[in-house]
Amino acid sequence: KPVLFSGMQPSNDSLHLGNVVGALQQWVALQEEYDAYYCVVDLHALTSSPNPDELRARTRSTAAQYIAAGIDPSKSTLYVQSHVPAHAQLSWVLNNITGFGEAGRMTQFKDKSARFGADSTTVGLFTYPVLMAADILLYQTDVVPVGEDQRQHLELTRDLAGRFNSRFGDTFVVPEPVILKETAKIYDLQHPDAKMSKSADSEAGLIKVLDDPKVNAKKIMRAVTDDDASIRFDREAKPGVSNLLTIFSAMSGRSIDAIVDEYAGRGYGDLKKGVVEAVNSVFEPVRARTLELLDDPAELDRLLAVNAAKANEQAEKTLAVAYERVGLLR
Ligand code: TYM
Repeated sequence: KPVLFSGMQPSNDSLHLGNVVGALQQWVALQEEYDAYYCVVDLHALTSSPNPDELRARTRSTAAQYIAAGIDPSKSTLYVQSHVPAHAQLSWVLNNITGFGEAGRMTQFKDKSARFGADSTTVGLFTYPVLMAADILLYQTDVVPVGEDQRQHLELTRDLAGRFNSRFGDTFVVPEPVILKETAKIYDLQHPDAKMSKSADSEAGLIKVLDDPKVNAKKIMRAVTDDDASIRFDREAKPGVSNLLTIFSAMSGRSIDAIVDEYAGRGYGDLKKGVVEAVNSVFEPVRARTLELLDDPAELDRLLAVNAAKANEQAEKTLAVAYERVGLLR
């Protein structure tokens, strides 16, 4: 089977709608066809200097949400990044073939460092995409399903793989991103020109998997639309309505055209009620199952340990070859 790798940061107790539509739904759909690695990237989460107890809780909660959403830990390798030391080890090697300017051109780094200011921007944040490249390259990954915001990081990963291979001999598979056009970017319900993000200034436009369904319903009913009062998909002229249609479609499995037909001539209130139902019917069972899994942290930790052992085996092999190639004494 071809290999798939993807990951999410445990940067919140709950995943949000963008994570689910942009990534997790693809992960579940692809796990049969691929030898899939789904990682909770806790080392990456250190770049936002989380409280230690919160980080631990969020790491478990993120893993539980992967399982609750349908990732099967006996089929896919679902594990925690820091349980596999090779990620940090390969990342150090790759740091030495990454240009300072090259890393400095990453737009996520530029945005975040501009927001934090130079004194609060860490070296960890700067080398973040290099660790991401190590994650992917350790497993000889063929495909990486992600949202649009990770495209540039994937390009860097491909560049580093190609550079290493041509300098030291073929070592890494050069991975392909899988970014689905329709769902690659879910927007904030209040600011449909900005991506839905856990780091938005306000949570009014953010739909979280583990929130009370009533809270999510209220946020959806208050989503920004427009005063043109016609239901159709037009990203430029009608960003709010188009975002609701994308969400409705992803959550119901129905095409946007079918939804537009059904709601022709009706008001935005009706459309929003449809979105609420679709979102809640997907999220409610995920939420319930997540809480169940978190009730038995020992069992969850056991699953993560078994899967980390599988990941370690593969990662160690690639790391050994890379160490050898660059001339580290074995
Ligand atoms: P993270 O944790 O920010 O997001 C996890 C996944 O969710 C996608 N996503 C979205 N998709 C659509 N619309 C949105 N509004 C939206 N917000 C987030 C992201 O594109 C991502 O697929 N650097 C990564 C984690 C990572 C990784 C990796 C991913 C580390 N190593 C290796 C793939 C392969 C990140 O911070 O994602």
